[in-house]
Amino acid sequence: MANSIVIFGASGDLTSRKLIPALYSLFCKKYLPPDSVIVGVSRSPFTHQEWRDALRETTKQFSRRYTDEKWEEFSKRVFYFSGDVAKPEDFVKLRQQLHVIEASENANRVYYLSVSPKLYAATIASMGQAHSVPIDGINEPPLKGNKKRRVVIEKPFGTNLETAKQLNRQTYDVLDESQVYRIDHYLGKETVQNLMVLRFANSIFEPIWNRNYIENVQISVAEEVKVGRRGDYYDTSGVLRDMFQNHLLQLLAITAMEAPAQFNAGLVRDEKVKVLRTVQPMSGKEINRNTLRARYTGYLEEPGVPPDSQTATFAALRLHLDSWRWSGVPFYLRSGKAMNCRTTEIVIQFRQPPTLLFASPNALPPQANRLIIQIQPAEGIQLQFQTKVPDAGMKIRLTDLDFRFQKEFTGEMPDAYQRLLLDAMNGDASLFIRGDEVELAWGIIDPILEQWSSGSGPPLFEYEPGNWGPTESNEWIRSFGHSWFDVCPLLA
Ligand code: BG6
Repeated sequence: MANSIVIFGASGDLTSRKLIPALYSLFCKKYLPPDSVIVGVSRSPFTHQEWRDALRETTKQFSRRYTDEKWEEFSKRVFYFSGDVAKPEDFVKLRQQLHVIEASENANRVYYLSVSPKLYAATIASMGQAHSVPIDGINEPPLKGNKKRRVVIEKPFGTNLETAKQLNRQTYDVLDESQVYRIDHYLGKETVQNLMVLRFANSIFEPIWNRNYIENVQISVAEEVKVGRRGDYYDTSGVLRDMFQNHLLQLLAITAMEAPAQFNAGLVRDEKVKVLRTVQPMSGKEINRNTLRARYTGYLEEPGVPPDSQTATFAALRLHLDSWRWSGVPFYLRSGKAMNCRTTEIVIQFRQPPTLLFASPNALPPQANRLIIQIQPAEGIQLQFQTKVPDAGMKIRLTDLDFRFQKEFTGEMPDAYQRLLLDAMNGDASLFIRGDEVELAWGIIDPILEQWSSGSGPPLFEYEPGNWGPTESNEWIRSFGHSWFDVCPLLA
């Protein structure tokens, strides 16, 4: 089935760094349906050729697959439309152009909103109005409920629960939930999907994936980069909105969810929603005890950051889930900029065996088993377990069993956007966030944000760039009887 991918915000960074390279790779792999076209839309006055030329340079830079020959073939499908789609009259003109470009009357259209989040509501409203205007005397079927018209919405979806609810309402004025694809690019990462496969395509993990065997779970998303040129945006967002409301809570949901009865968008998302519903709400005092915030030294000097900013660039949360499976198991979530390496990992810390037969009297107790799911930069899984040191009596040592995606599977790991774009074209929403899910996630983050800005929140610590956050974070987790698993990527 032919597809039109219409990108609003065509002159933005995401389009050139991620979306076009992803579509180009899909084309090279022959995954892009035949006769598909890509139409960039923004207010800048480019011709088709000027836009193609600009994209050629960025695609060279961001796609390892680039060749002149393939690009020539691909770029014939690339078009440009200059206009302001938040204005219905421009949207009508865009539809006229699509009508001319599309090879089939029957093409699916994926509208990708990569514009400023402030424009989401206006663009969707304008889409609604423009779609009732006939093109060349032909009326299209109504937009709402039309399965051939889908809209992908980039993050952030709202800035708190209230704005997310409002945006959902404005979206549902024009579209059905089944037409809406809210992006969290973490769900497009291969290892995140593999986490579901690991849990639900193997029987060995299920019996131990619960409070009887698991002591705690740690989900860390560490970034080496600083805020840099994104100060304007970042200071209004901070680490909780930027990383926790979406990426970290999604990782939590997939780690903790029950097996869906079938692998389809509705049932997978039902299970994730159930996890978010079980997150224990916290009072102000509990928030002060169970959350920690900090910013890196030098953050206030970043361009766009006001001198009196109180924005956190690092946070750690201790969450509990009220469910039979997870009751009593703390989930530690942390993320920060300017940390000492880039790594995203989920650490399942198992309990000690009931008796420590091989502990030596003068040493620390042996370490309990751990399963480390490394999401990035290199994707893989490591199981840590004790073994006997040969020829050393009953001395034991922690050893590991590694699985590396790169080693097992040849070829490049696809970027998350390839998978997500393809799924949106195919109408599979399993890896997108549903409306109720996004609201539940804000419902978890909002009270923390409120407490932090109330004047009686936890202190805002500082950390030197190149560390695992502030030293207070180690004391904080130790006060609960646990310690962070601070290791830069294990699996290269
Ligand atoms: C984005 C955040 O959603 O995710 C950025 O806005 C962050 O601040 C990025 O750097 C991290 O994504 P990845 O895929 O590099 O881990």
